[in-house]
Amino acid sequence: MTRDRLRIAVQKKGRLADGSLSLLARAGLNVKPRDDELLLRVKNLPIDILRVRDDDIAAFVADGACELGIVGLNTLAEDGYGEDHPEIDILAPLGVARCALKIAVPESWNGAGIGDLAGKRIATSYPRLLKRFLDARGLEASIIEMTGSVEVAPRLQLAAAICDLVSTGATLEANGLKAIETVFESEATLIRSRCALPPALDDVAQRLARRIDSVVATEGTKYIMLNAPRDALAQITALLPGAGAPTVIPLARENQVAVHAVCQESVFWETLEGLKAAGASAILVVPIEKMML
Ligand code: PRP
Ligand code: ZN
Repeated sequence: MTRDRLRIAVQKKGRLADGSLSLLARAGLNVKPRDDELLLRVKNLPIDILRVRDDDIAAFVADGACELGIVGLNTLAEDGYGEDHPEIDILAPLGVARCALKIAVPESWNGAGIGDLAGKRIATSYPRLLKRFLDARGLEASIIEMTGSVEVAPRLQLAAAICDLVSTGATLEANGLKAIETVFESEATLIRSRCALPPALDDVAQRLARRIDSVVATEGTKYIMLNAPRDALAQITALLPGAGAPTVIPLARENQVAVHAVCQESVFWETLEGLKAAGASAILVVPIEKMML
C-alpha cells in the first residue's frame, strides 16, 4: 500500500522535542500535540509527525519508514549516519539545540591537557565519537560506556574524566567538573530519506524543506527603514549589519533618500546610534514574520 501522507520523525522528549514542534508550527503545520500522542496528524497538510526516541530517528529515515526527520548531529554521527551516508541526506542545520560534546574532568584536576588522560578511563554515552577523537590524537584511554548520568562517574571513581554533551554548562558546574576539550560541535538538523517517493509526497517533502529553510533564515532577521542624506548612503549601508544591497527610494525632499534593508544579524542600540551619527533619521527596526527568497 502506498502511503498518501508524509511522515516526519521528531524527538518525543529531550532537548530537541519542543524546538522541533515549534519549528514545524512556524513552517505552517497546524498541530495541537497532547503529551501522550505518538503520532500527530497535521490538519492542513498531508503530513504525520511521529514522536520517537532521538536514537531511533536516523534509522527510521534511513529505511524509509519516515521521509524526514529532525535530529541532533551528535546523535546522527554517534549512530553511524554521519556525512555521506548512502541512505540519508543531511539537508540543513536548523540553528537550534546547539551543544558540544566535551571532555571534562574534576575541578581539582591538575593535568596539563588531554594527553594526561592516556591510560585513564573516560565515561561517555558517545563511545564512537570519543574513540574517533582519541584515535585521531593517538591517545589510548579506556572508554567506559554509560547510557546516562555520566557526570557522576568521576565521583564514583568509575572514571577519571567524562565525555558528555554541554549546552549551558550548568550540569558540569553542578557536578564540580570542568571542560578541557571539545570533541564534536552539534546542532539540530533536518534529514531526508534517499528512498524514492511518489511525486505527490515528494512535492510535499520539498515544500516543507523549503519552508523550514525560510523559517531558519528568518530567525533573528530585522527589517530596517530610515531616511538619510544621499551623500551619507555609502557610510550608512556599511553600518547595516548583514544586509545585502538595500533598497533606496528618493524622497520629495532634495538630496534625501529612504533606505530599506533586511538585516541578517542582530541590530543593537549601538547600531542605531552609529546610523544616527552618520546622518540617518526616522530609523525604524521591525521584526520579519515570514520571508521567501
Ligand atoms: C545532556 C548531558 C547533560 C546536559 C548538559 O543531557 O548529558 O546532562 O545535557 O546540559 P547543560 O550544559 O545545559 O547543563 P540530555 O539533556 O541530552 O539528556 P540525556 O543525557 O538524558 O540524553
Ligand atoms: Zn538521548
